[in-house]
Amino acid sequence: MRIFITRKIPGPAIALLKKKYTVRVYPKNHIISRQELLRGVRGAHAILPMLTEKIDKEVFSAAGSQLKIIANYAVGFDNIDLTEAARRHIFVTNAPGPEIVEAVAEHTIALMFSLAKRLIEADRFARAGKYQGWEPELFLDTKISGKTLGIVGLGRIGFAVAERAARGMGMQVIYNDVKPNADFEKQYGAKFGTLDFVLKKSDFVSLHVPLLPATHHLISDAQFKKMKKTAFLINTARGPVVDEHALLIVLSKKQIAGAALDVFECEPSTDCDVNDHLELKKFPNVILTPHTASATFEARAETGMVAAKNIVAALEGKTPPNMVK
Ligand code: GLV
Ligand code: GLV
Repeated sequence: MRIFITRKIPGPAIALLKKKYTVRVYPKNHIISRQELLRGVRGAHAILPMLTEKIDKEVFSAAGSQLKIIANYAVGFDNIDLTEAARRHIFVTNAPGPEIVEAVAEHTIALMFSLAKRLIEADRFARAGKYQGWEPELFLDTKISGKTLGIVGLGRIGFAVAERAARGMGMQVIYNDVKPNADFEKQYGAKFGTLDFVLKKSDFVSLHVPLLPATHHLISDAQFKKMKKTAFLINTARGPVVDEHALLIVLSKKQIAGAALDVFECEPSTDCDVNDHLELKKFPNVILTPHTASATFEARAETGMVAAKNIVAALEGKTPPNMVK
């Protein structure tokens, strides 16, 4: 049986798959072009794509009817047409595991600290040789302890962020999800509320929902208006969960204190509209990381192994462990 992997990945996953199957890895170190993807998947029983590949009807057709599984190399799965996969009885799996959850949670906390402590701004200032001596009001920043963290989407990653914030920094945690989690509330003194409640009360709002039709532009004009002027937004989920234009407007009107983004609406660009004179990178109170929240070596290796195990299960006629619905 044949497996097509759309990019070289770190860790032992490729070697494991090579023991059992004919594996082809796209050899170049850049995002595979659409044409090469359509050619590469031909005859594959399993495809292991990155989140940068759109896996749709055309890809399924190009692969052929022997295709059994798409094992996404990510927690997110918005790059895959699930309806079309279900229609063709092709399994779709994601790759959540403790390492990737921890990696994204740590990156989220790092962004929260960087925003509150103005680390990037202060570093730029010091590097530029602007430091002239100690000043009582130089880079006044924001206290984190005792502040309120609003978690939007209490999946495993949202939970891990909340746990670190409540335990490590003594933050109050409030959250919104499709349903409350009584154990979580009891363990961390957390409070469930509507999205509006979370936006109104939080000093830091952190997004952890998957990108679905229902979460597209979940945070737009009306939602930004609910936030405190002193509040920060952190997005390590998916770019289009935030209406980036609306974010640029509130930032330019100073209606929130700042934002840290690991994901972008028009990725890999950090600017959807280059003609509107509003750019995220121009705001000193905005921190941008290039979709690297899950980039610990441990997480990358784990993600490969989880995807590989899903493939092995599917090709052995079993139900893979990480099916997405
Ligand atoms: C990264 O964004 C992932 O979904 O794993
Ligand atoms: C990740 O596994 C999540 O559910 O957030």
